Amino acid sequence: MKNENTDVWADWLLHRRTADDSQLAERLQKMVEVYADRVIEGARLKPGMTFVDVGAGDGLVAFRALNRLSGDINVILTDISEPLLLHAKSLSATTAAPERCTFLQCSAENLVGIADASVDVVATRSVLAYVKDRPAAIREFYRVLKRGGRISIAEPVMQNEYFVARAMKARIDSGKGQPDDKLLRLIHRCKSAQFPESADPLDISPIVNYNERDLLQCVVDNGFHDAHLELHVDIRPSLITTWETFIGTSPHPWAPTLKEIFAEQFTEGERRFFEENLRPGVETGTNASTDQMAYITGEKPA
Ligand SMILES: C[S@@+](CC[C@H](N)C(=O)[O-])C[C@H]1O[C@@H](n2cnc3c(N)ncnc32)[C@H](O)[C@@H]1O
Repeated sequence: MKNENTDVWADWLLHRRTADDSQLAERLQKMVEVYADRVIEGARLKPGMTFVDVGAGDGLVAFRALNRLSGDINVILTDISEPLLLHAKSLSATTAAPERCTFLQCSAENLVGIADASVDVVATRSVLAYVKDRPAAIREFYRVLKRGGRISIAEPVMQNEYFVARAMKARIDSGKGQPDDKLLRLIHRCKSAQFPESADPLDISPIVNYNERDLLQCVVDNGFHDAHLELHVDIRPSLITTWETFIGTSPHPWAPTLKEIFAEQFTEGERRFFEENLRPGVETGTNASTDQMAYITGEKPA
């Protein structure tokens, strides 16, 4: 693998997700560790097993699985991002048992380098949200698993963002002239830049074109049985408490930050009005954020 330094995935995971705010990074790390641990629980790992972490990123799930089993499993970390694989590889030297780790650059839809029926568990977290052909990915998981092998998945469900953006647009287009319309228009401008709307359902971005039941159905339609879904919805105080971080982060790798949206789509007056209205909520900690995480497990029939 040659080092390409960075790409959209590495840039987001290592920088834009937190706007390089170390306090936010610390809070976020605690939250994603909870997600990762649930994925590992769903995997029902046993010593000697081979565990694939698809779209491993910085190795969060893979390394925690390895440590949970005291190094007594083999872990294959796959990702389409070469910079992230190289980053994970360098981390493995200090956080995991590097001799137990294999790194493969490939997409979830084509797990090249992993033989048919060769692994015990396929796990993935926050990856299928970015995969256009999700059924192809699930078929690949099925292909590489041994009979009786398990999948354990955690994916964010962001479809609501799309519905909210469309509802805002409908209200704006209705021209009912509510007094808060100016703010609504500006919030809609930001939301539709981060969670693109489309009149044509076929054009809807993979990040918002599914819900938890669609994912479960996809798993069942592609051969898994004993499928189980848990949806966790948490509404809690936002982890972001400074304005600079609020406008400097982006909610997913394909989304611009508010700062970027201001530069491209706001006049200075609009930016000031937006800030005057929203900054107090951010800085007093009264802003809430909603996380919806779908946990799905399933088994390849024995
Ligand atoms: C939100 S990050 C999640 C990283 C990691 N799984 C975690 O739990 O922190 C999404 C990851 O998916 C990878 N990715 C995006 N599209 C992919 C695809 N089609 N196949 C495999 N990996 C993909 C990205 O490179 C990135 O590492």
